[in-house]
Amino acid sequence: MPVTTRCRICEGTVEEFFDFGRQPLSDAFAEPSAAGENEFFYRLATGICTSCSMVQLMAEVPREEMFHEDYPYLSSGSSFMREHFGKLAERFRTTELTGPDPFIVELGCNDGVMLKALADAGIRHLGVEPSGGVADLAAAKGISVRKDFFEEAVAADIRRTHGPADVIFAANTLCHIPYMGSILRGVAGLLTAKGVFVFEDPYFADIVRRNSFDQVYDEHFFFFTARSVRAMAELHGLELVDVERLPVHGGEVRYTLALAGARTPSPAVAELLAAEEEANLTDPRTLETFGANVRKIRDDLVALLRDLKDKGHRVVGYGATAKSATVLNFCGIGPDLIEFISDTSPTKQGRVTPGTHIPVRPPSEFAADHPDYAVLFAWNHAEEIMAKEQDFREGGGKWVLYVPDVHVV
Ligand code: SAM
Ligand code: TMP
Ligand code: ZN
Repeated sequence: MPVTTRCRICEGTVEEFFDFGRQPLSDAFAEPSAAGENEFFYRLATGICTSCSMVQLMAEVPREEMFHEDYPYLSSGSSFMREHFGKLAERFRTTELTGPDPFIVELGCNDGVMLKALADAGIRHLGVEPSGGVADLAAAKGISVRKDFFEEAVAADIRRTHGPADVIFAANTLCHIPYMGSILRGVAGLLTAKGVFVFEDPYFADIVRRNSFDQVYDEHFFFFTARSVRAMAELHGLELVDVERLPVHGGEVRYTLALAGARTPSPAVAELLAAEEEANLTDPRTLETFGANVRKIRDDLVALLRDLKDKGHRVVGYGATAKSATVLNFCGIGPDLIEFISDTSPTKQGRVTPGTHIPVRPPSEFAADHPDYAVLFAWNHAEEIMAKEQDFREGGGKWVLYVPDVHVV
């Protein structure tokens, strides 16, 4: 019997297609002395709704376990992403936010990477961010932040206090939120008549195309396509009016929703829907092939790391990403195969990786004594990282990548 559950979008039947097994919280970096104490585990598995086609996790982790005072992800850690969000802020400022006294709300503003430019330009804004530590970093930059989980009641309260929003924005946040009905009712009630809800998240078609199975972890609850986003919008009086492919985080789509009938959909929407149809994205055979590719990557990566170790090479990891939790725990890779992981986030340094307890160290330790090989867990930032770590390559070091397959460069 296939394992099924109820769709968090349409209440249809979700059929499981891949099981990653028992996994820890992807962002739970513990102090070494507390490693393994009270670690939270759950079963990570993906399924697809046979009605609305939304790809989603089979089990939900309580939101307070993931997003809290100690949430370690810092959005401003990548110069490429700072530039990406800087450009978007400028686009908002010169398009959607040109009326009298415009207002923008951002869900999951994190350390303020997008809102900073708008705050500096004196535009009325509000970040809604439940993770206290990162919300404080945004506030310290002069950004107005409400420490809360965005949901219907919070949206209604924002409207009462600040009035309606011309733009509601969310980057790498909407896909984190299982209670989508509450979010979309809140959005529909908070937007002005012509307002837009813009969000960008990893694109399921790119995950399948690149075998980037490590995009699957506790925080990534939904994996969107134009088809599934259009279906979820329609359930709440919203309409998908634009889509834009983005070259960030291994391939994302920026979706624009408006109140139904308020805007004319761009031709890009029909084009992306047609491309998805063509790619047979939701065909069970496509999902089976994805699963087979993922198992092969696991076997190849473990074999490579064991071989390197047997030959006496030093291997470290680069980027203690949330994605790496899935790779390490699914493959059973621990400190025996990877000495440490280099990461720029002060919130992760000196701690150990969830479940596998590999030490996380600052990049200065990577630079001080280059290893022979580095597994690039932050492969989505490859260009930026390889450019700044040229000395590693020049000294004979090699990068190990595992998407779309295991290879050494
Ligand atoms: N927007 C930033 C970016 O793209 O780098 C941050 C993305 S981070 C992966 C996801 C953020 O969503 C976290 O800071 C988390 O605290 C926040 N978050 C989770 N649930 C939320 C909710 N219901 N409302 C607002 N923010 C939420
Ligand atoms: P992300 O893939 O979810 O954005 O996470 C990237 C992680 O990699 C984050 O912990 C910060 C780290 N990182 C580095 O260590 N060096 C870098 O140059 C970049 C861009 C990220
Ligand atoms: Zn559904």
